[in-house]
Amino acid sequence: MDANRVIIFDTTLRDGEQSPGASMNLEEKVKIALVLEELGVDVIEAGFPIASNGDFEGVQAVARTVKNSVICGLARATRGDIERCAEAIRPAARGRIHTFISTSPLHMKYKLQMEPAAVLAKVSESVACARGFTDDVEWSAEDGSRTEPDFLCRCVEAAIAAGARTINIPDTVGYAVPDEYAALIRQLFDRVPNIDRAIISVHCHNDLGLAVANSLAAVQAGARQVECTVNGLGERAGNAAMEEIVMALRTRHDRIPFTTGIATQHITRASRLVSAVTGFPVQPNKAIVGKNAFAHESGIHQDGVLKHAQTYEIMTPDSVGLHRSSLVMGKHSGRAAFKAKLKELGYELAEAAIEDAFARFKDLADRKKDIFDEDIVALVDDAVVRGNDRIRLKALEVLCGTRHNPPSAELDLEIDGKAMSCKATGDGPVDATFAAIRALFPHEARLQLYQVHAVTQGTDAQAEVTVRLEEDGKTVQGQGADTDTMVASARAYVNALNKLLVKRQKTAPAGLPA
Ligand code: KIV
Ligand code: ZN
Repeated sequence: MDANRVIIFDTTLRDGEQSPGASMNLEEKVKIALVLEELGVDVIEAGFPIASNGDFEGVQAVARTVKNSVICGLARATRGDIERCAEAIRPAARGRIHTFISTSPLHMKYKLQMEPAAVLAKVSESVACARGFTDDVEWSAEDGSRTEPDFLCRCVEAAIAAGARTINIPDTVGYAVPDEYAALIRQLFDRVPNIDRAIISVHCHNDLGLAVANSLAAVQAGARQVECTVNGLGERAGNAAMEEIVMALRTRHDRIPFTTGIATQHITRASRLVSAVTGFPVQPNKAIVGKNAFAHESGIHQDGVLKHAQTYEIMTPDSVGLHRSSLVMGKHSGRAAFKAKLKELGYELAEAAIEDAFARFKDLADRKKDIFDEDIVALVDDAVVRGNDRIRLKALEVLCGTRHNPPSAELDLEIDGKAMSCKATGDGPVDATFAAIRALFPHEARLQLYQVHAVTQGTDAQAEVTVRLEEDGKTVQGQGADTDTMVASARAYVNALNKLLVKRQKTAPAGLPA
């Protein structure tokens, strides 16, 4: 491989999915994996097979479906984890086992309760065990950036000697700063005798907002694999954002002369899909994929961009697959125009999904005068999210305002194919609606967040509602969109409940990494 080529290792489906509330079902994981493959991601970390049957099946399904990317599974340094991982990646054209153990004094003492010598022995043992199943083994030093450098060098040397081809040095708690992290990577090149037999990888968390800067500094110090996630999804403050790493390397090739194999025109689509599936909205001012990332509001900027785009635009919207609208949609638009619009927005849907989206578009067009691209994105994303739901919203009628006290909601749901109805009252229309849902599907989950935002401007705008529920320490986030805020709210709550049902099947193993 070209010495300046950086391998993109995407962990949206593993580290990203570990983010509280971001659980995905099997079909959603496969859908995202296919978009990652299309993006040209080199390695897809599809899950942590020992974590649950759902995780195992997710990795296996991705391994069966994706052809062009390496499919990787995560395993702790135990035979049981490694065997389960090997089993899950077996169908892959190219599979990788990624095994890890903590190496920092803090983690060894308190988390593992192991002496350094025992950890070192585990490094060799676990990598050798993984090599029994595949040639492609990655080893990670969890909390690597807070590991004592002498010990880190010895662990890295042992892992390479045992057969690891990729050595990953995570900044697990997002503590490092760029020059310090780069110096640590450089030390490995200077001090580990067999370092030329492995690729050095970096995996940065964003607790101080430095994940991307740290990753790029490490690349300049010799790392040639970057671990990242779409939209920077991940535990706590997230992981390094793939789109930012890739576009920084592309846009500032003059200063950071490294390349990736990413087809950047698919970035926007990948971002939208991940956001729709997880229910994690992308902040409007997020670099590369935020709604405002290419919007020029001020007169001076607009004037400049019109005269010459590069006055205020360092990348083109086209380069990330964001196309300026050429088709205006309304109630008279037909199927062909709708299909063309979907294509323009970067969606490739199956015929049945197009039909479903088209029917909803027509319904929306009857209720709303101007249909903006954002409306169509919200509508299609809403359909993506609801594909395999066990609980479905069928009908809702809410009575509220000064004449109706207390406010009431009459609700029809379909639960596992069975139609159910009820009426409930509450302190307000949202409270009544949620009470009706709780009456039809009793549960203990607590509402942690209820948030509404208008997709576009005007009183006929669609409302996009986010609901976060918490049950036994597990959180899930649901989304719903509709011109009727109460319907959007019910959709969001029902979506969160469906995610909770997926999450209930999962039991996290001890020592789950960041
Ligand atoms: O953050 C971390 O240390 C991890 C490792 C398992 C790579 O996610
Ligand atoms: Zn991590």
